Amino acid sequence: MSCIRLARGFTGRDLIVKFEGCYHGHVDALLVKAGSGALTHGQPDSAGVPKAFAELTLTLPFNDVTALRSLFMAQGSQIAAVIVEPVPANAGLYLPREGFLEVLRQQCSQYGAVLIFDEVMTGFRLARGGYQERCGIPPDLTALGKVIGGGLPVGAFGGSAEIMDRLSPDGPVYQAGTLSGNPLAMAAGLAQLREMERVNGWAQLEERGAEFESGVRFALEKAGRDYVFQRIGSMFCLYFTSGEVWNLADAQRSDKAAFARYFHVCLEGGIYFAPSQFEAGFLSLAHSPDDLARTASVAVEALLA
Ligand SMILES: Cc1ncc(COP(=O)(O)O)c(C=O)c1O
Repeated sequence: MSCIRLARGFTGRDLIVKFEGCYHGHVDALLVKAGSGALTHGQPDSAGVPKAFAELTLTLPFNDVTALRSLFMAQGSQIAAVIVEPVPANAGLYLPREGFLEVLRQQCSQYGAVLIFDEVMTGFRLARGGYQERCGIPPDLTALGKVIGGGLPVGAFGGSAEIMDRLSPDGPVYQAGTLSGNPLAMAAGLAQLREMERVNGWAQLEERGAEFESGVRFALEKAGRDYVFQRIGSMFCLYFTSGEVWNLADAQRSDKAAFARYFHVCLEGGIYFAPSQFEAGFLSLAHSPDDLARTASVAVEALLA
């Protein structure tokens, strides 16, 4: 919410662009073709959002360079910001195609639009510096959520001084909250980050992710299924489809009834995945090799069922 306001205040423009299936919280302007629960429960365009607000939000399919370029060509000079989960994880999990984020960065720079990376899921998870560290593409603003508070309720955003200095009281864009800078959440976030550094958590998560992936691939092979398994670091998703998944439309081709059966057989076997085809899964350092092996064996039974 604050990133969008700041981008509008900085550019003096009103239009924002988001990608279909991405979820950025329940702020009015972003509940348009939203992912996460809004998608699972069939309300990607929420009631209660005035039409006039929703009209200022333009949507694009993720990974579609042609659609992106033509939107910028038509309306680029009116676009305040593009907000994106650089690795979208609110409609399952799909990755950016080679070059997609580069083109997005280039178009935003060319037309003077603020590029916002929503790293609420990927920040501090895929790397210490989030996905932007891994892909080497710098956004203008970065949004973080609970991860910066070690799981406690908090949100944060940041970027270059040129943009951030437009915030009140230095600049004209107002932002404030009773819990801003909440010391408890900040202490928890720092403790979590220090622990991750102490145990080299990112390398461990990558290892566990790879181990989990081989378990799931083994389960798929044993069960004779060609479903698509996606993983990056400790984030994963098993789509119940055999077609490649690069955007929301691809993800929606999944067999949701089959997912539901799989989910319940796994649950009966003691493995509790997120209860939606459109939620990503996450591993943590608490998941032991035994947990991962057990998950793979329950997954074989569930896939066979
Ligand atoms: C990528 C992303 N952005 C934003 C949010 C919103 O966070 P909150 O519910 O804390 O507002 C979420 C929630 O899961 C998210 O996944």
